[in-house]
Amino acid sequence: MRFSLNIDHVATLRNARGETQPEPITAALLAEQAGVDGIVVHLREDRRHINERDVRLLRELISTKLDLEMAATDEIIKIACDVGPELATIVPEKREELTTEGGLNVLDQIELLKGTTERLHDSNIEVSFFVEPNINHIDASAEIGVDFIEIHTGVFANAESEEEQIDELERIRVAVNHAKKLGLGINAGHGLNYQNIKVFRELEGIDEVSIGQAVIARAVFVGIDTAVKEMISLIGS
Ligand code: PXP
Repeated sequence: MRFSLNIDHVATLRNARGETQPEPITAALLAEQAGVDGIVVHLREDRRHINERDVRLLRELISTKLDLEMAATDEIIKIACDVGPELATIVPEKREELTTEGGLNVLDQIELLKGTTERLHDSNIEVSFFVEPNINHIDASAEIGVDFIEIHTGVFANAESEEEQIDELERIRVAVNHAKKLGLGINAGHGLNYQNIKVFRELEGIDEVSIGQAVIARAVFVGIDTAVKEMISLIGS
């Protein structure tokens, strides 16, 4: 299982006082040296953390791969096509949310998502849809022609009982097996941390996890190199 690091919250801290530090580009380069397989950023409509300058510099400077999380809006699609990340992960986006709250409702916006996927593919960018572990949305994603899905692990991560966690893990297992049969690449993320990743890594078939908050929070105390290496050792290979 590969591990990509989401560095949005390095930018959150930088932006809190309108300063230039901590620099997200430095975080990305240090994380690469520590062994991550890719860098993830979410260029939000309101630019609350990552901005366009960050995305362009990352494109120039990182040597692993860039996963740009984005809403399917004309403005952001144009930026993505211009910058050329290896992967664009389409997420639902609401201004008032603290973080991405749920998966994409693929079935309700087939035409928009089809057009978005075509535009990104025309610029040689692979496309992933961030979806709940729900067979109908996964089927619709495959029909549209995405390369990957990213399974939303937030319900699993926030489960309030072991029983709820086991149930959700089973839903994820079924979704992963289904998506594999459809030939999709499978990423997963949201709310994964140093504790719950141990249960999660037992699942077969997930190509990559995308983790942000837990690792950046730990990096505040132990540094990014140690925080990344600790997560890599828990994920295994
Ligand atoms: N994947 C997606 C699509 C996300 O929106 C986020 C949150 O930015 C993550 C993964 C990472 O979630 P977390 O910060 O909880 O690890």
